[in-house]
Amino acid sequence: MTDTSAIAAELRRLLPHAHAPYSGVRVAAAVEGADGRLHYGVNVENAAYPQGLCAEASAISAAVTQGTSRLARVYVASSLPGLVWPCGGCRQKIFEFASEGCEVVALSPDGEVGRQTIEQLLPLGFRLDPAQVRRA
Ligand code: THU
Repeated sequence: MTDTSAIAAELRRLLPHAHAPYSGVRVAAAVEGADGRLHYGVNVENAAYPQGLCAEASAISAAVTQGTSRLARVYVASSLPGLVWPCGGCRQKIFEFASEGCEVVALSPDGEVGRQTIEQLLPLGFRLDPAQVRRA
């Protein structure tokens, strides 16, 4: 496992890169592949609000782009006080790529660390077996 405080420091460094002029809430995320490599993302809002992208979605896109599709761990930090946990849509996006027991690690500005598995955050999550999907 990579050093959590080093990842927390990197997420703090990235928070100013978030594009969050509408909500004012900056979020940074890192996803750790099964190979131990880390991929980062920040939230990227848009004047057309629904087009905004969450930090976790950005980080997952970066990981998949680099050929990483099994996630061991996801880290989330924000500009809000306290711990921030992924929104419902991001829980589903994490679930898609989560390896068994994939952990979500929430990091607060004052050094608090929360840990939950993706199965705890998204019980009975939706999965499709591509081999069983009927094709038209
Ligand atoms: N946000 C994330 O980046 N990740 C989450 O899991 C929850 C929300 C962003 C979306 C929006 O830019 C801002 O936080 C406020 O909702």
